[in-house]
Amino acid sequence: MNPVDPQSLPFSAASERNRAPILAVLRAVLAPRARVLEIASGTGQHAEHFSTECPGWTWQPTDVQAQALPAIAQRCARLPQVQAPVLLDVLTPAWPLPARAFDAIYCANLLHISPWATCAALMQGAARHLVPGGALVLYGPYRVDGEPLAEGNRAFDVDLRARNPQWGLRALAEVVLAAEAAGLAFERRFDLPANNLALVYRLRAPAPR
Ligand SMILES: C[S@@+](CC[C@H](N)C(=O)[O-])C[C@H]1O[C@@H](n2cnc3c(N)ncnc32)[C@H](O)[C@@H]1O
Repeated sequence: MNPVDPQSLPFSAASERNRAPILAVLRAVLAPRARVLEIASGTGQHAEHFSTECPGWTWQPTDVQAQALPAIAQRCARLPQVQAPVLLDVLTPAWPLPARAFDAIYCANLLHISPWATCAALMQGAARHLVPGGALVLYGPYRVDGEPLAEGNRAFDVDLRARNPQWGLRALAEVVLAAEAAGLAFERRFDLPANNLALVYRLRAPAPR
């Protein structure tokens, strides 16, 4: 692999801004040693930062876009605990990773930039790939019943729907229902800067026979 030239890699300013508050959430939820599957890794900035700060986490980046994977690999090349990125489309019924193999699944900024079917598929995939008691941590903007939608999020929602009518901010209550249907209990909400939420769901352990 060629030496990493950070200037040439894709870069998200939002990922840079939100990484510190998200890392604080992950530290509060995950054990110091954990196997983490990241869905929709994008530029790989979160994979790189979180793995640098918490080297006890074995990190598996993924994304649906094949062209994103080399940059993620380059960005994380110096981190042995980051696995080679895997091509993963949440919407496929079988993900190319072992079942029951992850203590946590982390996914930022996917549900509003994909069709609503992605939500149920994400929950069902999380239920297949988490160990019982494992955590699904989601990050992004949401609509919440009984809470005013911040002006920035309202404008973002309008922009998303104009770009693709299947996109848009999701209602937290509906996401919780999709999680419950897959066997994931809503555990905790963190209010993060810029009107974003981090949501923690926990895979229920199977009932004893
Ligand atoms: C807004 S970016 C977020 C990237 C990163 N998680 C972050 O927060 O900076 C959305 C990402 O979702 C990925 N994505 C969209 N649809 C997907 C799908 N069906 N399965 C997996 N990833 C998907 C895109 O390729 C893109 O990398």
